[in-house]
Amino acid sequence: MSIIKKCLFPVAGYGTRFLPATKAIPKEMLPILTKPLIQYGVEEAMSAGMTTMAMVTNKHKQAIKNHFEAHSDIEASIKDTPKQNLLNEVNYASQQCDFIYIEQQQMLGLGHAIYTARPLIGNEPFAVILPDDLCMNDNDSVLLQMTKIYQQHPDCCVVAIEEVPMNQVDKYGVIDGELLKGTNNAYRVNTMVEKPSPAEAPTNLAIIGRYILTPEIFDVLENTTADKNGEIQITDALMTLAKHGKVIAYEFQGTRYDCGSVKGFVEANNAFAKKQGLI
Ligand code: UTP
Repeated sequence: MSIIKKCLFPVAGYGTRFLPATKAIPKEMLPILTKPLIQYGVEEAMSAGMTTMAMVTNKHKQAIKNHFEAHSDIEASIKDTPKQNLLNEVNYASQQCDFIYIEQQQMLGLGHAIYTARPLIGNEPFAVILPDDLCMNDNDSVLLQMTKIYQQHPDCCVVAIEEVPMNQVDKYGVIDGELLKGTNNAYRVNTMVEKPSPAEAPTNLAIIGRYILTPEIFDVLENTTADKNGEIQITDALMTLAKHGKVIAYEFQGTRYDCGSVKGFVEANNAFAKKQGLI
């Protein structure tokens, strides 16, 4: 069983790249085929043994909360029909897990969103999923792979990484480090840079939206200053821990789709449709 019980979803961002769709609908409710991005994220957390889903939202994200609550009218209308199965997946998640919420009052960056969740998380290790990074796996989910690494290094944070083309490093946090003995896919991180230019980037190993964080991160975030855009970056806070050898970067198995971009969203829909034999 996983020793990590809580998964945090920082979903307070405005999703401006998807306007006008995201004016009234949270980005996380956009579907890949028939299932909203947030539900894929919750199912990944469940696959890694997590049972509390903690969400950092804002007042425009009520639809996410509604999605994980019962809808008696729809349920009554499809009860005992073949369509009943269509609702079962989300009802199953709602029955198996607790959903807890807190609002981020100001958009001050991902680090700030994570810090906002401190009252929901308390003093225990937790996972973070950014649901617009959608991962497809034939075997273990990315978060399950990461929990296995964390169990071997319980005093460390674990970030998921993948190689990206050098001309795209400026969209990501980028790491450098030393391969852990006996592995070819896990690094002890010694450098992390948020959105470097290709010339400044130490490598092309980019952090994607999956983290396992120790509660130590909250004290570090409390003392992390905002960047030049006024945002508190989780990468900067992790760099403080990396200086003490407490961050591991794990090159996961699977395929990630950047559904925060229109191109990645279309690619994900195509890939999932192909997998289901629809196209
Ligand atoms: P993004 O910058 O990719 O998401 O933040 P966004 O702001 O919603 O999208 P665009 O760029 O305007 O299209 C990465 C993740 O961090 C969360 C977002 O919700 C997203 O899941 N986030 C970011 C917060 O929760 N709060 C913040 O202040 C910033």
